[in-house]
Amino acid sequence: MSRNLHLPGSCNPSANPSFDEILLSRRSLLKGGLAATALAAVPACATQGTRPVIGFTPLAPSSEDLLRVPPGYEARVLYRWGDPVGAAAGMPPFRMDASNNAADQALQAGMHHDGMHYFPLPYGSSISTHGLLAMNHEYIDEGLLFPDGMKTWSAEKVAKAQNAVGVSVIEVIQKDGQWDVVRPSRYARRITARTPCLVGGPAGGHPLMRTASDPGGSIIFGTYNGCAHGWTPWGTYLTCEENWHFQFVNSGAVPPDQQRYRISARGRSYRWEDYDERFDAARHPNEPNRFGWVVEIDPFDADSVPVKRTALGRIKHEGAACSVGADRRLAFYMGDDEDQEYIYKFVTERPFDPASRKANRDLLDFGTLYVARFNADGSGDWRALAGADLGEVRIRTRQAADAAGATKMNRPEWIVPHPVTREVFAALTGGKGNPFGHIVRWTEEGNDVAATRFKWQVFVRAGPEGKGSIQGDRFANPDGLWIDSMGVLWVQTDMSPGSLGKGEFATLGNNQALAVDPATGVFRRFLTGPRGCEITGFHTTPDNRTAFVNIQHPGETPGDRSNPGNPRAYSNWPDYAPDGRPRSATVVIRKKDGGIVGT
Ligand code: FEO
Ligand code: CA
Ligand code: CA
Repeated sequence: MSRNLHLPGSCNPSANPSFDEILLSRRSLLKGGLAATALAAVPACATQGTRPVIGFTPLAPSSEDLLRVPPGYEARVLYRWGDPVGAAAGMPPFRMDASNNAADQALQAGMHHDGMHYFPLPYGSSISTHGLLAMNHEYIDEGLLFPDGMKTWSAEKVAKAQNAVGVSVIEVIQKDGQWDVVRPSRYARRITARTPCLVGGPAGGHPLMRTASDPGGSIIFGTYNGCAHGWTPWGTYLTCEENWHFQFVNSGAVPPDQQRYRISARGRSYRWEDYDERFDAARHPNEPNRFGWVVEIDPFDADSVPVKRTALGRIKHEGAACSVGADRRLAFYMGDDEDQEYIYKFVTERPFDPASRKANRDLLDFGTLYVARFNADGSGDWRALAGADLGEVRIRTRQAADAAGATKMNRPEWIVPHPVTREVFAALTGGKGNPFGHIVRWTEEGNDVAATRFKWQVFVRAGPEGKGSIQGDRFANPDGLWIDSMGVLWVQTDMSPGSLGKGEFATLGNNQALAVDPATGVFRRFLTGPRGCEITGFHTTPDNRTAFVNIQHPGETPGDRSNPGNPRAYSNWPDYAPDGRPRSATVVIRKKDGGIVGT
């Protein structure tokens, strides 16, 4: 979600220390030489893996309504909002005037593509020419979704809006260097804000999860606002519910538990409550408790029921990035993306079983949830969130983390562990007193994913020339992160449409993706996007010869929603149709000679 749609300020009332304060103290300590020991103890883990070779010619910043990749590379649009997902139930073509109905939208790509993961076919292989792509459709722009925007409003429009978010699973195949979506495909499916989901883990069936329409607290309709994503070693996809609170309204006295998650009288005026009363949080006070979770989806079975894994906590989940421990226990690193919120880690109680998918079916329902405390001496602690009523502790995760003394961060976005060294990188996209954002890195004590201590450093402070600490190409507001099988860290940016090209952001151009070798810290600009978009979901096949990337919300306005009377005001990417509209899309990037992406 673009930065300008995140509400400014914080809803964290705790007196916990902020990361800005910790950084100030750290600088004083370093000046005094007192933290030299702690600093020296941070191992340069990234150098232990395969050293990446970054060889492409970097791009200049661009303000054009074009997607650019370096010389010798090609980028091809694969899957746009409105393209048929490929389900046998129907493949309605997209109508450029946005006149597809709700039933069509349920069989088409949603809007605002975000986190994405490639799963090789067949399951368990490392085939890089045939697989499944699972991806989030984060949110919507009604000015583009409907021919007349929100001028008229109806149950049909709410249904179309709800069908335009959620998840796509598509089958993709490469022949002679060209990728296409397989249609029809037995894997193809859309999961929307109306799809039934089960509830696993300690909050399943909890009294705080029960509603008038679901007295058992065990079946929830839909998942939406999935942002970054997660994955498991047994080939499931995790969609992570981020700004779910925007759909709720509460015109009465908002109780403290809803205030802590920023539920307000108007939400973001999605008006779902007009025809789907569960989004009226005054009438249905437990309904908000049913969102804000990590949801596990089996992309290999189109009939599988998504499961909300409540052991991983209820926050505004950016993502859930998996790190595999030496003993096969798993850690999932998760940001809560709101200013002055926290970073979390979930560690599974049991190791995963590589021989049996079935054995891992409920692995995510049992484990310990921690929140991060960063200390000025470069150390950090993972503080466990526990209590007698674990279901309540998970539903009220933010309140439990407040009490645990966690460190307030500048909007934690994507977090990614290095697949070999287990070093972790986290994008803090920016917030109060930090307009450009930064990336921090840490290593767990003993390189153990279950450790309760870690050591951290700032990897880079972003910003234009004269600001920050970037070596190489300049950027701001890091959001998406991915480390490929060569060890290249791919950073994707989300400067807000309100700041693109203006003031201190003027020299940075449109949003972009950059490649960096974590050992050298030199950034090279690999991709520049069309106007108004954010770049996200960068992901590579196991052989590293194909990259998939999502171009989210091209043409997003500096204000709120697009003007339906002028949908092409800021962008007409990717179709450039004279009567069309900008469309979020998945793009495939390959080297023309078939070589490794990034070289
Ligand atoms: Fe959906 Fe935190 O970006
Ligand atoms: Ca963002
Ligand atoms: Ca994001």
